[in-house]
Amino acid sequence: MGHALFGRDHELDELRVLLAGAAQGRGGLVMFVGEPGIGKTSLADAAAEAAAAMGFRVAWGRAWESGGAPPYFPWMQALGVLACRFPDASSVAPIDAEAARFQVISMVAGELRAASAKAPILIVLDDLHVADLSSLRMLHFVARELRSLKLAIVATRRDVDARLTPEMAAMLAKIAREGRTLELGRLERADVARLVRAEGVRIADDLAVELEPAIWKRARAIRCSSARSCACSSRAPGTRAERRCRSPSASAR
Ligand SMILES: Nc1ncnc2c1ncn2[C@@H]1O[C@H](COP(=O)(O)OP(=O)(O)OP(=O)(O)O)[C@@H](O)[C@H]1O
Ligand SMILES: [Mg+2]
Repeated sequence: MGHALFGRDHELDELRVLLAGAAQGRGGLVMFVGEPGIGKTSLADAAAEAAAAMGFRVAWGRAWESGGAPPYFPWMQALGVLACRFPDASSVAPIDAEAARFQVISMVAGELRAASAKAPILIVLDDLHVADLSSLRMLHFVARELRSLKLAIVATRRDVDARLTPEMAAMLAKIAREGRTLELGRLERADVARLVRAEGVRIADDLAVELEPAIWKRARAIRCSSARSCACSSRAPGTRAERRCRSPSASAR
């Protein structure tokens, strides 16, 4: 996978296994879980790139965190990219809400079954911590069918988020049982040093040890200046976690 991602060899291997299986008609689900800025979407990008290179059709759906999105919004986006039909109210029989929801979900699953029979598909569902409950129910339903389809799903979500309701947490736990959940930890010091070098900081190897605190500080600056939130800054000042984040010696493993 061509993307410059450091310290994620295990996760990239898992993605290769997922895509190889889906290409053979044994689909699956991988969910990346972790704190803000830890690299969840970057891994989903790497999956998308690898899948496209293997001839998959790739469709993204991203949950919308600012409110106002209709139910199933991430799925509507993904199905739109795949030119699959998303059922509208008129195609659902006038029955009670739960039965209507089941109809919508099973019709979407049918669309995906038919679409993936033609060519393998990767669906990326990003930021599920802010998805609506209906979208999570749909993912649970579809995830149960994946093992006989040419369909892979990569999903991401933050580990802790104030907007995660108990119902959503329960549904995410059910989804997790249908696939692989990979919790993303912080990068090892050696990978941080490689990342800093890749960002253009030139130092000789024999100076690396001496300069390691400076490398660490520089790495934090890069992470913190990225468009997204910084993993380090999410730690409360003075806590043990925050000290680990600050101190190069404390973070050695
Ligand atoms: N393993 C890595 N190697 C190099 N750069 C990385 C790595 N992981 C993340 N980054 C960089 O860190 C920044 C944040 O990554 P990313 O957007 O993937 O985080 P995220 O976990 O999806 O965050 P959020 O929870 O806010 O969506 C990006 O600029 C990305 O390029
Ligand atoms: Mg992200």
